[in-house]
Amino acid sequence: MAEPFDAVDVIMTKRDGGVLSTSQITWMIDAYTRGVVAEEQMSALLMAIFLNSLSREELNCWTDAMIASGERLDFSALSRPTVDKHSTGGVGDKITLPLSAVVSSFGVAIPQLSGRGLGHTGGTLDKLESIPGWRAELSLDEMTEQLESIGGVICQAGVGLAPADRKLYALRDVTGTVASIPLISSSIMSKKIAEGTSALVLDVKCGSGAFMTGREQAKELATTMVEIGEDHGVHTIALITDMSTPLGLTVGNALEVRESVEVLTGGGPPDVVELTVTLAREMLDAVARVVETHGIPGAGVAPGSAEARTRSEELRQADVAGSLKDGTAMDAWRATISAQGGDPDGEMAWAHHTEQIKADQEGYLTSLDALKVGVAGWRLGAGRARKEDEVQAGAGIQLHAKPGDQVRAGQPLMTLHTDTPEAFARAQEVLEDAWTISPLPPGSTSVVFDKVARDI
Ligand code: URA
Repeated sequence: MAEPFDAVDVIMTKRDGGVLSTSQITWMIDAYTRGVVAEEQMSALLMAIFLNSLSREELNCWTDAMIASGERLDFSALSRPTVDKHSTGGVGDKITLPLSAVVSSFGVAIPQLSGRGLGHTGGTLDKLESIPGWRAELSLDEMTEQLESIGGVICQAGVGLAPADRKLYALRDVTGTVASIPLISSSIMSKKIAEGTSALVLDVKCGSGAFMTGREQAKELATTMVEIGEDHGVHTIALITDMSTPLGLTVGNALEVRESVEVLTGGGPPDVVELTVTLAREMLDAVARVVETHGIPGAGVAPGSAEARTRSEELRQADVAGSLKDGTAMDAWRATISAQGGDPDGEMAWAHHTEQIKADQEGYLTSLDALKVGVAGWRLGAGRARKEDEVQAGAGIQLHAKPGDQVRAGQPLMTLHTDTPEAFARAQEVLEDAWTISPLPPGSTSVVFDKVARDI
């Protein structure tokens, strides 16, 4: 059958700054997925989009076409309301672990479809696989059953969700077109919308360890994703948060799980606790609003009913910080890990070799670069360079000081962990100028910079 469009016309329209029609976009993505549009043609279109962007209408249509390339999950039959969170990725970002436990402890379902790490940012699945027995792959039935009975699920995204994105992402990776706000937004949001959540909280990272290094850009990315979510009927809000320095005091798989467990026992580093509590609050407020306006169809709670109002009020009043202190979130964590075959009390790996890096002068640590720490952790074996590489569960970096802390000359600043000691030299090389020590303390900053929502 003849194709309705010519890829070259589509490319030239965008190259010249024109607007693509709905049918052109729908066809282009479908034809690319079918192998009719060649890789070099899609590469040219991606570069034209990188340079000339997409209008809001084009972007919604691009996102729709990616969603339509695969299956769409539907959790509306659950007796719990659903909410999800997505982070644009950073160094030491283990927040999903305590966060999923906190939010599910209030009777909410969180279908967290996560990925593995590539490059300097860690992947949630790699972290959880440090727990003996834990498995990332669940069937849709297993996932649905766990969402209904426990609420929390963190598992591998199936290949069926937005397969066009998988193909496009691989192409963007080799054509210098990853760092485009419309392409990042549609890539993330197509998967989140296809996943079937009714509310979504985005953690858009900003700083050296993130896609977006500046606040303006991060805000634009956040705004674009919030618009796509709301235009697709998913109540979406975004926080813009600091990724100039690693989150918490650990970078690396088992190290980060241990730190998450500390947070779940009411301790842990203040920035991890602050971000967990803030995101949990936003998720519960977002889902409260959905419950009020749409009810909980799977539980027979009608929109606008007295029960919907009561349930949403309970979610708004939920004592998030209390759930970390009183063990409720820990119970939810243990239930979720056990349900996926993991032993919450199991012994996790420690790396066989460690080396310390010490402060060369006294003063205040004023900066500690997230990207450099992330790259060092990756070189030590915590991350992978290619998709097929294995990660070391015990490898990574323990930080002994964070920006704002006072340090003495000779005091350990960090401990490097690896099973492959030949990696120390390359990790130390990237860490050489990763921090600054100054006589005066830096100003104090919060980990949360800004919030983007449709009606604020
Ligand atoms: N994560 C995604 O899923 N897609 C992007 O384009 C960037 C980050």
